[in-house]
Amino acid sequence: MQVLGIESSCDETGVALYDSQSGELVHALHAQIELHRAYGGVVPELASRDHVRHLVPLIEQVLAQANRPLAALDAIAVTAGPGLAGALLVGCGVAAGLGLALGKPVIGVHHLEGHLLSPLLARPAPEFPFICLLVSGGHTLLLHVRGPGRYERLGETLDDAAGEAFDKTAQLLGLGYPGGPAVSRLAQFGVPGALRLPRPLLDSGGLDFSFSGLKTAVLTAVRKRGNLCEQDRADIALEFVAAVVDVITAKTMLALRRTGLARLVVAGGVGANVQLREALDGALAAHGGRVFYPPADLCTDNGAMIAYAGFVRLSGAADDGSAAGPAILRARPRWDLCAGL
Ligand code: KG4
Ligand code: ZN
Repeated sequence: MQVLGIESSCDETGVALYDSQSGELVHALHAQIELHRAYGGVVPELASRDHVRHLVPLIEQVLAQANRPLAALDAIAVTAGPGLAGALLVGCGVAAGLGLALGKPVIGVHHLEGHLLSPLLARPAPEFPFICLLVSGGHTLLLHVRGPGRYERLGETLDDAAGEAFDKTAQLLGLGYPGGPAVSRLAQFGVPGALRLPRPLLDSGGLDFSFSGLKTAVLTAVRKRGNLCEQDRADIALEFVAAVVDVITAKTMLALRRTGLARLVVAGGVGANVQLREALDGALAAHGGRVFYPPADLCTDNGAMIAYAGFVRLSGAADDGSAAGPAILRARPRWDLCAGL
C-alpha cells in the first residue's frame, strides 16, 4: 500500500509517502520557525497561509523523490486534529480534493496517534503493550498503549505542557523561539545547586503533571536577580531542566510500576531533549526495561508519522472498530485521543 501522509496541524508542513511492503519512507518538511519568531509563538493565520503556500509543492517534491506518480497512491492520510482550526483545514482540504480526484480513500488521523506510533518506524520497534510518554508543545501525557487504537490515559498535565514550559522559560531567559533546544544547550553550562526550583506534584502519588508553578518560579528567580549575567541564565536553565526531568522521570517510572510494564515509548518534541533521554534511559535500565524513541528526524511534527498511522488504521490493525475511519473527513481542532477515534 502506498499511503500519502499530510501534516499541517500547527507550524510545520509535513508530507510523506509510506510504502507498507518495503517499509520505504520518503518525507519532506517545511518548518515555519522564521515566520513566527518575531511574535514569540505561532500566529494561527500566518500558519494557515504558509501551509497553503507549501503543501502542494511538498507533495510534488515527495512524489518526485519517490519516483511515483499521483496515480500510484492507494490512500491519503491527513492530520484531522487536534490543532489550529485554519491550519488543519488546509491539510484536510487538500487531502479531500486529492481523494476525490483520484477516487482513493482519505483517512483523518489523530495527531497524537501519529506521534505515539512513530517509534514503530524505528528498528528495533517496540512490541505492544507499552507505556507512552507523549511530551510536546501542546501535550504532556502518559498512556497505556495496549495496541493500535487502544489507548488509556494514565496521567496528563493539569495546566501547561512540558514544551510550553520550555518555550516560556526560554523567553524569560531571552533565548527566543522555539526555546526547548536552546534551554537544553544553555543548561550544560550551569552550576548544579546554584538555585532551587520546585518539582510540582513530584510526591503527589498520582500520575498527573503541573508545570505552570515551575514557570512562575523561573519568573521569580529571573526578577530576583535583576540583570542576568550569562552564568545566571545557565544556572536557571540547568535547574529548570533538572526540575522537568525529575518530575517526568518519576511519574513515568510510577506508571511502569503500576502497570507492570517494562517498555517505554517516548514521543513528541520534548522527547528529543538529551537530559530527559539520559535520565529515562538510566531509570529504565535500572528497572530492567528499555526506552524506544522515534527515528531522530521524526521526533517533532512530520508527515511520516501521519502516513504510518493512516496505514495502521486502513490495514485494519486498529482494534477499536474504527479501522475504516470516519466516513466524512472533518477538521477537529479539539479531539480526545482516548474517547474513541
Ligand atoms: O511535537 P512538537 O514538534 O510539536 C507539538 O507541540 O505537537 O513539539 C514542539 C515542542 C516545543 O515546545 C519545543 O520547544 C520542544 O518541543 N522541544 C524541546 C526540544 N526540542 C523540541 N524541548 C526540550 N528539549 C529539546 N531538545
Ligand atoms: Zn506534535
